[in-house]
This record gives sequence, structure tokens and C-alpha cells, in this order.
Amino acid sequence: MEKNRGSWSSNFGFIMAAAGSAVGLGNLWKFPYLAGQNGGGAFVLIYLGLVVVMGFTLMLGELAIGRATNLDAYGAYNKLKKGWGFIGGIGILTGFLILSYYSVVGGWVLKYIVASLTGAIGADKGAFFTNFITSSTEPIIYHLIFMGLTVLIVIKGVSGGIEKASKIMMPALIALLLLVVIRSITLPGAGAGLAYYLNPDFSKITFKVFVAAMGQVFFSLSLGMGCMVTYGSYVKKDEDLAKDALIIPGLDTLVALLAGFAILPAVFALGFEPGAGPGLMFITLPAVFESMPLGFIVSIAFFILVFFAAITSSISLLEVTVAFGIDQLKMTRQKAVLLFSALMFVIGTGASLSMGPWANVLLPWIDGKSYAIFDFLDVVTSYYLLPIGGLLMAIFIGFVWGLPKAVKEIKIGSTFPTEKLWSVLIKYIAPIGVFLILLSSTGLLDKLLGA
Ligand code: PHE
Repeated sequence: MEKNRGSWSSNFGFIMAAAGSAVGLGNLWKFPYLAGQNGGGAFVLIYLGLVVVMGFTLMLGELAIGRATNLDAYGAYNKLKKGWGFIGGIGILTGFLILSYYSVVGGWVLKYIVASLTGAIGADKGAFFTNFITSSTEPIIYHLIFMGLTVLIVIKGVSGGIEKASKIMMPALIALLLLVVIRSITLPGAGAGLAYYLNPDFSKITFKVFVAAMGQVFFSLSLGMGCMVTYGSYVKKDEDLAKDALIIPGLDTLVALLAGFAILPAVFALGFEPGAGPGLMFITLPAVFESMPLGFIVSIAFFILVFFAAITSSISLLEVTVAFGIDQLKMTRQKAVLLFSALMFVIGTGASLSMGPWANVLLPWIDGKSYAIFDFLDVVTSYYLLPIGGLLMAIFIGFVWGLPKAVKEIKIGSTFPTEKLWSVLIKYIAPIGVFLILLSSTGLLDKLLGA
């Protein structure tokens, strides 16, 4: 059975693929603008705290479920306890929705590679970005190309496509990011940005910051939707999962922090607005590149690497659904890839149009607000579906599958020195924490506390 499904060809390959899934637009594009919107250092501090308490914990839980079963996210839960496949089912749906809009942003990155080559960005970086994302056809064409490239890799399977791509792209990304960080923090006036980023202003810590930080932990670490269950299902038994669950979040957090160093000091030095939102990376970095010797080349190289980071994540998002199609619906890999990616492309088209022509199409959500399609997909997945998936997973391990069995699985390939700590975190602390933050995102906690 394992043979037909494929598996990673080496431990290093697996770590690179899993880190490749985690490191993506979430780190480079989202993390800096969320930090900019949520009080800088205060957000960073809470983010780091949540990575330690929830990130490592849930990562290990998901990997263990995957390796114990060698199945897709739905099949894995269902095999460990009949009737519980729905946890994986919610995850598969979540991944489906995320990739729909993720691919749109992936398309923006492709556009910026082309624009760096042709020098099209011009003096007004903000206007260039806004004009592009609000137009109707061009972003959809780039979205199509991005989805098409994702398809080409996933169709090649686990070790031939996904693993090979990640092994080359990840190390190159970190090297180039360091170069951009050095330029950004040495710009005249960068000090204010560094202070904003590194000195937490405790008065800025609100429920909203917790909600944003938790959603980002799930999104950035690819947790809460069975992605690590799926990747874990291709892992061999001698793999030290407890160690991997430290390395993968560690690498992911390193890249997110570096992205913050690349962008936020430059935002202050060059007079941009830290709370600008999703345009922050696209508007700030071209201005940074302009101030560098050979910036033209750095710009091309950098956006190519952002693209690499994005595609190693988008392939993992697609793989979750594809594995479900192969294992449960008995589809061929090729058929599953083509069918699901086509559906995601269509939903993503709506997300892209919602930046411009469809900006008035608003969808209501349980928090009482209404969102344009792009924002709707983002809010519903990051702040609700992923945390719910993570919460259910922790409950599943703590109370349904049971800690002893999970620990036994982890111990096959590991001495598991963190066993006691992990057991308390996954059974009690992580689920309670996620639950409270989820409550606060619906506004209920504020009401309960009379705030
Ligand atoms: N972690 C990826 C990123 O930061 C996005 C992602 C989320 C990938 C969920 C897989 C699953 O860009």
C-alpha cells in the first residue's frame, strides 16, 4: 500500500518539503503586514508565544496521525477511530478554499517577476500595485499560470515533484532574504522601523491581536487542515517526528522574522504606512530594491524566490485534496489534480475579481461583518476553519485516539524527550487556548467579560 502512494526518498527531503509547505506567502507577504497592522512588536511577541505553545504541539500531533495511518487527512482520522474522518474532511475543504485565493496572490508574485524584468513598476509603487490587482483580466491570467505550475509539480507525485522542488528552493530563499534584510536595516531612518518591530508596546495587546496572531500561526505553519497529516503519511517509520516538529516550525519562524526585518524597517525609512495591509510587501520592496546597487537584479531574484516559497506551499495545499481523491475516491493522481485544481481556479477567479470589479459583492459571516470574496476566504479559513481544525485534532489525540497510542507512534523513531510536556500541551493547554481565542474572534468572549 505504501508503495503505491509514494513516500519521501530521504529525511532531509521530507524536512525540506514540510518546511517548504510552511514557508510561503504566509511568512513573506502576510506576516509583515499583520505585524504592521497589529502593533508591531506586540504582535511579534504574541506570535512567538503561540508558536511555542501551539505550533510545535499541533505539528507533532498532525505528523503522528499521518505516519500512523499512511492515509489522506480524511482516511487517517477515520482509520484511527471510525466516524471521525470529518475532522480531516473539514481540513480538506479548508485547504481547498485557501488555495483558491493563495493562487491569486501567487499570480501577483509572477506579475512582479515580469514587472521587475521589464522595469514596469515605475515611481508610484502603490498605484502600480492597486492598478494591477483591481484590473479584471490580467491578475486572472497570472492566477491561471500559478495554478498551472502547481499542477505540473503535483502531478509528478511525492518524491519526484514535491520533494525535488523543495530541496533546491528553500536554501536559496533564506540566502537571498538575508541580503535584502541587510539592505533594509541599513537604510537611513530604518531605526524607527526596527524599534516598532522589536519593542513590544504592551498597550497594543488586545483580543484582536491574539486572534490575528493565532490565525497566522495556523496559516504559516500549515496547521489545522491535515496538511501535515498528509505529508506525515509519506514519512518512514525511522523518522524522528519529535525533532522534526521542532525544526519545521523553527525554520518557518526564522523566515517570518527575517521577512519582517526585510520589510518593516524599510517601511519606516521610506515613509510608507505600516498598516497598509496586503499591499505592504509589493509596495515596499520595489522601493528598497531601487535603493540598492544592482537592485534590478536583486528584485528579479527576490520575487523568483517568493514564487518558489509560494509554490512549495501551494503544492502542499493541492496535495491534501489530491491525496483524498486518490485514497478515498479511488481517482488517479492525474485526474484528481486536474479536477480539483480546476475548481479552485474558478473560486480563485471570484477572489481576484473581488479586488476590483466585484468589490461590492459582499458575503456575510458569523462575526456580523460582510466581506468581499478574497477577504471572506482569508478570514473564514485563517481565523475560523484552521483553528477549529487544530482544536478538533488536539481533542482527537487527547481524548479519542488517546495519548498512549500517539506517544507510541512518535516513539517508534524518537527518544521523545519532550513527551511529558507535549502530553500536557496537546491534551489541555493547546485546545483550551485555541478555544478561548476562537471565542474571542466571534466577539463572544468580549461580551462575556463585559469588555
Ligand atoms: N503555510 C503556508 C504559508 O505560510 C500556507 C499554507 C497553509 C500551506 C495551510 C498549507 C496549508 O504560505
